[in-house]
Parts: sequence; structure tokens; C-alpha cells
Amino acid sequence: MAVDTGADERRLAQLVRGHDRWRGREVFNLLPSENAVSPKARRYLSSDLAGRYTLPGEWPVDGETVDNSYAGTRYADAIEQLGDAAARRLFRAEHATVRPLSGHIAALSALAPLLPRGSKLLAIAPEQGGYDGYAPGFIPALFGWTVRPLPADRPGNAVEEAAALEEIRRERPHAVVLGQSFFLFPYPMKAIAEELHRHDGLLFYDASHVLGLIAGGRFQDPLREGADVVFGSTHKSFPGPQGGLLFTNRSDLFAQIAPSLVWRLFDNAHWNRIAGLAQTLLELERTGPAYADATIANAKALGTALHAKGIPLKAAESGFTESHQLHIDRPALRQRHQISSGPLARRWEKQRLIADLMGRLGTAEVARLGLGVADMERMADLLVRGGPGRERVGREVLEWRRSFPALKFA
Ligand SMILES: Cc1ncc(COP(=O)(O)O)c(C=O)c1O
Repeated sequence: MAVDTGADERRLAQLVRGHDRWRGREVFNLLPSENAVSPKARRYLSSDLAGRYTLPGEWPVDGETVDNSYAGTRYADAIEQLGDAAARRLFRAEHATVRPLSGHIAALSALAPLLPRGSKLLAIAPEQGGYDGYAPGFIPALFGWTVRPLPADRPGNAVEEAAALEEIRRERPHAVVLGQSFFLFPYPMKAIAEELHRHDGLLFYDASHVLGLIAGGRFQDPLREGADVVFGSTHKSFPGPQGGLLFTNRSDLFAQIAPSLVWRLFDNAHWNRIAGLAQTLLELERTGPAYADATIANAKALGTALHAKGIPLKAAESGFTESHQLHIDRPALRQRHQISSGPLARRWEKQRLIADLMGRLGTAEVARLGLGVADMERMADLLVRGGPGRERVGREVLEWRRSFPALKFA
């Protein structure tokens, strides 16, 4: 008897349509880890490239050398070259690759080929906003590295120069990995790089959260400030399809990284994603500074308005943020409103306001929708009424959301 999958297929179509309608048109997304992908990049994601392979290189086959494992790849190969060139221009880097499949894989792509077993790393601990992947049980455990915390104990988990330098002098690590998942303020990189390079340590910069701001020439300029290799996700403040990229000015390091990608960390690099990423890189070449300015200005304005309305935020004394993120002061929230960040985010979700359950808010996607500083007062008002105030503001949110039908900076 033929299998009938019709009901499940209809259900699947409904789920995808439902998701697209809800998350794409009926809510405001304030998650700092996400963004809206431009219409052209989305179109490329569903192109024929989605099912294809290419593996350019020099591969031995029966005593001869072939220049690709696959045929039929001329368009895909040109797309990769175009993407790499756009990344090199946008980030003013001598070498770039758009192949890493995600921010995490981009981190592995940078670290694994360059750090031998037994290496010692300094990275910001998760308790101070660092990425869990660098904590002792995760990436370091796979490669036999030890990891010690780089202190980030200033307001908003900022890194203070003297404390960082002291730790580097004491530990003499093989590498420092900068970058945070809770990421409000740039680092004192020049001093860190100088201290580390004095004994040949490597400085890595995980730009996963702030890549879109760096693309616009804002936040900080890690390559010019001393980073050896920069890498990150392409879908947080950088508004591309989910994926990763990596760039560096160090030819010696790139010569070790590039051959380690294929067959060590992954095989197929997902060429539809790379076409979408190339499109986003080109869009940011045109619009990056205006997009980054709008995102950061919105974050500061939303921070000021929320704080004034009684949602306690971290780093008020430092102007809340220099990035796309804001951090709720969770102990103060519990004390003032008898609610923690998880249930608060669930309350907001019911009112069509999407934030994460760990107390982060982000303004990248609303900037892409065209909301500006003048709109942040109203956003804060909705968050307060729909959150601690327990008001039903969902209808008002929906109507307001409908007045931003198209993406800007795309
Ligand atoms: C600082 C940082 N690095 C790396 C990652 C991993 O990125 P991806 O989900 O693209 O693998 C994250 C994810 O949140 C992150 O915050």
C-alpha cells in the first residue's frame, strides 16, 4: 500500500506558513542573536544551489590531479569567489572565507589549526557574558586545551585594561579569545594585543554578536586594533543567513587555516547560504554605516526609556551599551517586579514582543524594519505595559508592526 504523507505535508506547510507570518510579520523581534534576512538573500537560499556540491582544490585521482571533486560547479565557484572578495573589502582584510557553517564552526576553523594540544587559552567566562563554547567542558575539551577566565567584571561585563593585562602577564597564554554572548562594550584591544604579542600569543576576536556593527565601521575595528584572526556568526547583528565567516591579515595564519576547513571541520559549505551571504555582504557595503548607527542609537534610546520606566538595566552608569544589546539587571528585576527574566520573556511573547529568556534585548532587527530613536519610547512603553504591567498590548503591537512592511538597508 502506498504511504500517504499528505496530512503531514499539509501540516508542515501550515507550520512553515504560520511561522513566517508570525515571526516575519506579526511580532517585533528583540532577540539580539537574530536578524531578518533581506528578500534577495532569501531568494538565493531557495535556489538550486541548495542541493549542489563543489570542492575546488587539487585532488589526486589515480595518479592525476583534478581541480574539483565535482563537475557542473562554475557558477557556485564564482559565487564563492565573489563572496570572499566582498568580505575582504567590507572588513578590509587580506584574507577571508565565507565557508564556515556557523559562528561556532568559524571559531573551530580559526582555533583548531593554530593551537596545538596542551595550549592555554584565556577567554571570558560564561558567568561574565562569555560564550559557553569556550568554557572548559566544551571546545577546549575536544582539543586538549586548558582555559582560564579573562576578567570581565566591570559594569555590563566590560573588560578593564589593567585587569586583562595583569592576567595575561600572569598566565602567559598561547591565545586570548575576545568576544561575548552578552556583549555591550568594546575591548581595550591595542594594549591586550601588544601584551600578548610580546610572547607570541595569538589574539582571536569572536565577532559573532557584533559583526554587523563592525561591518558598518562601528563598535570597534578588531584587525586594526591588533586581532590576529576575526570570525563570527553571520546572522546576529550581521543580517545574513545563518552561517559563519572568518578573516585575517596574517597570510601565515590563513595558510594554516584554509587547508584545515575541508574534511577536518566540514565538507560541503552550503552554497545557497553562501550566495545569500554574498548578497548581504554587498548590501552592507552600501548601507552598513547607516544600519550600524541606527541599531546602536536605538539600543541607547531603548535603554534610556526602559530604565526611566522602571525596567532595571545593567551598565546604566556607562550609558547602557555601545552595541545592539541591552541587559536586564536580573536581581534588580526580581526585587522590583517579583518576576525573573524567563517568565517576563514569556509574558512579552504573548504580547508579540520577542526577547530572550536570559534578559537580553537587541535592536538590530527593529532597525532593519525602519524603527528609529523616536520609536524607542513607544517600544519601551509597550514592553513595560505588556511585561510587568500585565496589560494586553498584543493588538496594539500588531497594528504598529504592520506599519513597517519592508526591510530597510537591504
Ligand atoms: C560569542 C558567540 N560565539 C559563537 C556563537 C555560536 O554561533 P552559531 O550559533 O552561529 O554557531 C555564539 C552564539 O550565540 C556566540 O554568542
